[in-house]
Amino acid sequence: MEILRKQFLRHVGQTSDAPLMIEVARAEGIYFYTPEGRQYVDLVSGVSVSNVGHGNPAVVEAVCAQARDYMHIMVYGEMVERPQVKYATTIAELLPAPLESVYFVNSGAEAVEGALKLAKRYTHRTEIVSFLNAYHGSTHGAMSVMGGEAFVGAYRPLLPDTRKLRYNCFEDLAQITERTACVLVEPVQGEGGVRPPAAGFLEALRARCSAVGALLIFDEIQTGFGRSGEMFALFKYGVTPDILCLAKALGGGMPLGAFVSSNEIMAGFRSDPPLGHITTFGGHPVCCAAGLAALEYIREHDLARQAEAKGRLFEELLKDHPAVVEIRRSGLLLAVELGASERLFRAMELLGKAGYLSDWFLFCDTAFRISPPLTITEEQIRECCADICEKVLNRL
Ligand SMILES: Cc1ncc(COP(=O)(O)O)c(C=O)c1O
Repeated sequence: MEILRKQFLRHVGQTSDAPLMIEVARAEGIYFYTPEGRQYVDLVSGVSVSNVGHGNPAVVEAVCAQARDYMHIMVYGEMVERPQVKYATTIAELLPAPLESVYFVNSGAEAVEGALKLAKRYTHRTEIVSFLNAYHGSTHGAMSVMGGEAFVGAYRPLLPDTRKLRYNCFEDLAQITERTACVLVEPVQGEGGVRPPAAGFLEALRARCSAVGALLIFDEIQTGFGRSGEMFALFKYGVTPDILCLAKALGGGMPLGAFVSSNEIMAGFRSDPPLGHITTFGGHPVCCAAGLAALEYIREHDLARQAEAKGRLFEELLKDHPAVVEIRRSGLLLAVELGASERLFRAMELLGKAGYLSDWFLFCDTAFRISPPLTITEEQIRECCADICEKVLNRL
């Protein structure tokens, strides 16, 4: 065990000086376990990935079956691969017109890259607008539209011709003009600390984009696949983007991303020059088989609707605790606001000791995250909340 930790620190590239360092032996449902048998409740879901729970048998079966049939054959876009075609068709049927062409990639950041490139091709414009406190990934293009300078400054120069607006600020929408290729927005800001849109904001954004001919891109990488209480948050607000970015839960626990648009817009990648976005592993058949099985599971078990009720129950059970300043929520994605970062760091320590994996947000270090698998039961929620009140919030 000690050797493994040493090898982890020495040979696995590190993202910070304070990794969690919990060794995982196995995971099931809302729990994961260390080799010593210590149980943790997963309140993060790998950041909104494991919506159908860890080790979901339907997903595991789909992965094994597809791996036996075939894995990688050829770069994305050349072969007719059944899991990819079936998954794209199912997603297209779920989404409002004209979102019917699904371009599969590997990750959220790559979905964002593809969407930005596509918008430039289609509009022949260059300006890209995004929002303060937005997170869209960590590649150069995605970082160019990230709304927090602290993580970005060291990597400049990034993409030119970008502009950041204040999220939920109607006045700023006037800065979207005939020069703007696209506006990228999370319908509910995730890493900003769970910030739902103000009433009418997304509608006003849609109207402004349509008026000036800019494409509207929704990043539903964190809110998609039931997390927001609808299959996609766009249904919640009745606003259809021109391009939709998906990842995280899209792969049912396997790495997969996608951007979805109309056939007319997507045609931009096909010619003059062709191969507008090249990806070797995008839409890997095993990942598509896993994602399709997970999506079917979400639909069969009505997990999107349940997410709203389960999120509300978490909110009701925690909101009146004196240590809680406020709870911001979209479906089963909650930010429990504690008002100060020292209180949050203490809460994180206590959560870990009590056997809960939580996390804070990239642009909000005063709140902790509750986003368990959507399969969590009412009984488990009540148990978690009682435990968190007693072992964490009461001790702050
Ligand atoms: C809203 C949003 N967009 C994009 C990304 C980037 O996804 P990935 O880490 O798969 O590149 C994330 C990841 O947290 C996200 O939350």
